[in-house]
Amino acid sequence: KIAGPSGLVIFGVTGDLARKKLMPAVYDLANRGLLPPGFSLVGFARRDWEDEDFAQIVHDSVREHARTEFREEVWQQLAEGMRFIPGDFGDDQAFKQLRAAVEELDASRGTSGNYAFYLSVPPKFFPKVVKQLKKHGLADAPAGSWRRAVIEKPFGHNLKSARELNKVLHDVFDPEQVFRIDHYLGKETVQNILALRFANQMYEPVWNRSYVDHVQITMAEDIGIGGRAGYYDGIGSARDVIQNHLLQLMALTAMEEPIAFDADSLLTEKLKVLKSVRLPEDLGEHTVRGQYAEGWQGGAKVPGYLEEDGIDPTSKTDTYAAVKLEVDNRRWAGVPFYLRTGKRLGRRVTEIAVVFQRAPHSPFDSTATEELGANAIVFRVQPDEGMTVRFGSKVPGTSMEIRDVSMDFAYGESFTESSPEAYERLILDVLLGDANLFPRHQEVEESWKILDPIEEFWDKHGRPAQYASGSWGPGEADEMLARDGRSWRRP
Ligand code: BG6
Repeated sequence: KIAGPSGLVIFGVTGDLARKKLMPAVYDLANRGLLPPGFSLVGFARRDWEDEDFAQIVHDSVREHARTEFREEVWQQLAEGMRFIPGDFGDDQAFKQLRAAVEELDASRGTSGNYAFYLSVPPKFFPKVVKQLKKHGLADAPAGSWRRAVIEKPFGHNLKSARELNKVLHDVFDPEQVFRIDHYLGKETVQNILALRFANQMYEPVWNRSYVDHVQITMAEDIGIGGRAGYYDGIGSARDVIQNHLLQLMALTAMEEPIAFDADSLLTEKLKVLKSVRLPEDLGEHTVRGQYAEGWQGGAKVPGYLEEDGIDPTSKTDTYAAVKLEVDNRRWAGVPFYLRTGKRLGRRVTEIAVVFQRAPHSPFDSTATEELGANAIVFRVQPDEGMTVRFGSKVPGTSMEIRDVSMDFAYGESFTESSPEAYERLILDVLLGDANLFPRHQEVEESWKILDPIEEFWDKHGRPAQYASGSWGPGEADEMLARDGRSWRRP
């Protein structure tokens, strides 16, 4: 689907996200022919730039980060619709100029009053920008057109602040006008969870407590916090990615079939899962947080978290978190969902492993199955996109010996089509008004309800466990699963 006449205004256009993801995504969409010919891009920031300077910045970011090849004619057409508004968020004059720019683009490029406002700014600025949009008549769509607000996480720091933030947004925009970005939902492999589960017949019959022993959701990163100390310290891994990405993955894995593939039906089912999540009674036994110490990664020595630039050397911020959750419903009662994430781990991998119970009976003598593990279906979210089914098979030879083997589906082998970058897909959906892949405020709030008690517990009890950079996290996380008679997969 191609977006209709429209424009995108980006606040915080000098930030990393805009440069690495948003601008390249806009170009890639244009290059794939998915944007209307008069599409316009307006940057807003506190810089003394002219339109041409802004266009040059976009040009550089596209040359460096775009996925598709650079084509001069596509670039030219896009560049003609670029405008820059200098000013800070409290500056009425700048917002008047923004309004004038939008009207001018409606006339010169035919954007028809359809605008999305992308708030790629720290959350403390959300209220100000949103109020300015309202005050200057930019939040209200002229008859027959639309206005949308796009918000980046963090959606608050806890339930209370998330509610306050939602109130600020909803004072100005209707809930349907607000698009919250969780870029994991923009990933092909994440959307494919629903396709695999609900377009096929063979998985759903076993997708429940009668067959599944437990589920492991892993989001491991090899990178440290890089230059993001200011954002990360005091936030930590659980708020950074469990509250959003991992709970979304869990909801998609555990939810019932939606009555239709539309935003409301998806929300209904995801919300049911999130509302049914039960925390373990003993959070000390069933949650773990860690902090990376120095270590080796990719052949280089790397510093520990507390030695990183800009980090308070007494910081208790977690860079690793593992939690055990259960879903109190008929399908999942008693099946643990183990979620873990961490920075500076052994390698970058995100996967969802559905691990099955052992066969209830074996006709083979016990030596035959000594090396047989549990059956598993693994959604490989990234980087090696695909799916693995693991099961036992007879080892060739004269005796009966059964060992684990894998059957793999790999995107690269099965499809010639390339996957759009998550931000490409999500920006296009904003312009199309398709809200399927955007968490609604109810999901955000339910997710905080799950996380808040864990964070409060951690706050009161001790410090995160140290783990060596390049390892698979603190030993406490292994002990957490060992207590349940299980172990983490080594992806
Ligand atoms: C972001 C987090 O949401 O996701 C980052 O804030 C993290 O800390 C990033 O590095 C990971 O995204 P991806 O797409 O590389 O897995």
